[in-house]
Amino acid sequence: MDPHQQIILGIETSCDDTSVCIMERNDNGQKIRSLNSYNQDFLLAKWGGVVPELAARSHVKAIPPLLEVSFKEAGIKPQDVTEVAVTTHPGLMGSLLTGINLAKTFALIHELPIIPVNHLFAHLEAIHLTEKVSYPYLGLLVSGGHTVFFWVTGPNNMEVLGNTLDDAAGEAFDKGGKVLGVGYPGGKIIDDLSINGITTKYTFPISYMRDRPGKMSYSGLKTALKVKMEKLTAEEIAQDLPHICASYQEAIVQTLRIKAEEIIEKILHLKVKNFETPIVIGGGVACNSRLRELMKSSFKNVHVVSPLYCTDNAAMVANWAARVPELLVSFPECLSLDAQSRFVEKK
Ligand code: KG4
Ligand code: ZN
Repeated sequence: MDPHQQIILGIETSCDDTSVCIMERNDNGQKIRSLNSYNQDFLLAKWGGVVPELAARSHVKAIPPLLEVSFKEAGIKPQDVTEVAVTTHPGLMGSLLTGINLAKTFALIHELPIIPVNHLFAHLEAIHLTEKVSYPYLGLLVSGGHTVFFWVTGPNNMEVLGNTLDDAAGEAFDKGGKVLGVGYPGGKIIDDLSINGITTKYTFPISYMRDRPGKMSYSGLKTALKVKMEKLTAEEIAQDLPHICASYQEAIVQTLRIKAEEIIEKILHLKVKNFETPIVIGGGVACNSRLRELMKSSFKNVHVVSPLYCTDNAAMVANWAARVPELLVSFPECLSLDAQSRFVEKK
């Protein structure tokens, strides 16, 4: 084997998706040899959201077949792996621990080092899986658990410039989906239902928080939706569903545009019209078609992670690990790695 060749086993289990990636890397670049994920949406749909214990149990079941198929597809033997990358933070404790336990077991058998992966940074840096973007960039991480603006000067150097004080944008979509009774997770469903909807037919509040630049609040939005729904008849709801969805979605994405503008002007002290620094958008909500369109039409240099790598996946984990070789924890010290549930405080 080429001495510069790395074979990274990437593992992602921080929330409700189980994902395994085998990535090959050498002096010429990197290649995903296999990427397999198991999605628990059908299971969680029954409960209308993530149930931490069920999510962790589901990872335990999904991991062995995912590993087996991933090695087979990659044409790689477990003993050829040179390092293990696993999400250690942030996430649901039980879910994180299933992946960390797998990583440690694999490392123990093959005497390998482990790279502990920051899930949020991995989401944004997934941009490099398909595009070349230089540092610094303004990162917008929008997922089911986080909505954070970062000033990014390197793969492991991200300073928080703004964040939500309560619900995340993905949570606003999912809770909205629940109120609308359209299914779980609400994000993709609302996005699809909005395609033929009129965004101005209904008005939903945008929480400007003018005295707190960069800070967002989404918790009032689902309440506003609930109140609106109570005033409509079942026929009106059925007839206007695309318009209700489009208007609700518009409030979520416009908040992100307004906050991006505010951060550029009030925190970075630059003019939006002259802002040519790249803006990178990642995380599950970055799949949203209206958000992609709105941000690209409002700012000059916008790069959105490919929908293939927006929602939780192990390719972003392996990719991030490859970019931070300094974080590699050698064997056997890596066997003491632990999980951390929080990373950005909601304050
Ligand atoms: O990044 P991710 O897979 O998991 C977390 O780290 O939280 O993001 C999941 C979130 C869910 O809230 C889901 O509804 C949302 O991403 N999502 C979308 C779309 N696809 C997924 N939200 C809006 N529009 C979409 N097309
Ligand atoms: Zn995520």
